[in-house]
Amino acid sequence: MLIQLPVMIAYIKFTNLKCVAYDKPFADFRQCKLKALSRNTVALFLHVQLFQVPVNNVTVNLDVYRRANGYRPFMFNITVDFCSFLKNKKRVPFGKLLMDTIEIYSNINHTCPFDHDIIVKDMVLKTEQLQLLPMPTGDYLLKISVAAYNDYKATVKAYIQVVED
Ligand SMILES: *[C@@H]1O[C@H](CO)[C@@H](O)[C@H](O)[C@H]1NC(C)=O
Ligand SMILES: *[C@@H]1O[C@H](CO)[C@@H](O)[C@H](O)[C@H]1NC(C)=O
Ligand SMILES: *[C@@H]1O[C@H](CO)[C@@H](O)[C@H](O)[C@H]1NC(C)=O
Repeated sequence: MLIQLPVMIAYIKFTNLKCVAYDKPFADFRQCKLKALSRNTVALFLHVQLFQVPVNNVTVNLDVYRRANGYRPFMFNITVDFCSFLKNKKRVPFGKLLMDTIEIYSNINHTCPFDHDIIVKDMVLKTEQLQLLPMPTGDYLLKISVAAYNDYKATVKAYIQVVED
């Protein structure tokens, strides 16, 4: 499934970020923002407050879209039991790729339960990461929906641009 890209990628960056909390007594966003570090480098900041800890039952849906006359479903729409995924990430290769990146910039590098706020800080996308992903150039939307105890609590929409040389 992992293929080498035929084109040279000039850069990959976040272009927009939207966060929605559906159950604010359970979890809310204290921070949800992008910050341009340079023209082609954009850092992502996310701070999710968890008000009913510990949380040990999490489901994550990752729904990927690519823009072509509006955003169309693209390649992945996966739902995982996040706590069991964290115990063995290799079983979901695309999820592992994404987590390997997120972990570097966050405090979620551990297994369940979660008994603290979730913080992602200064996360930037690098072209090296794309070497492993079959993503042609274009505009993408990664929609990440998080449920606890089978009840959807929040959605993060990250818009990403992949540009070739
Ligand atoms: C992706 O999967 C979720 C959960 O099954 C579903 O709600 C959503 O509609 C799906 N998205 C698309 C584009 O089919
Ligand atoms: C995450 O934790 C594992 C196990 O403790 C460690 O091997 C790995 O290097 C950590 N990753 C990051 C990005 O800190
Ligand atoms: C998570 O919670 C839901 C709702 O209470 C339950 O149906 C489900 O079995 C739980 N999942 C796990 C892995 O414990």
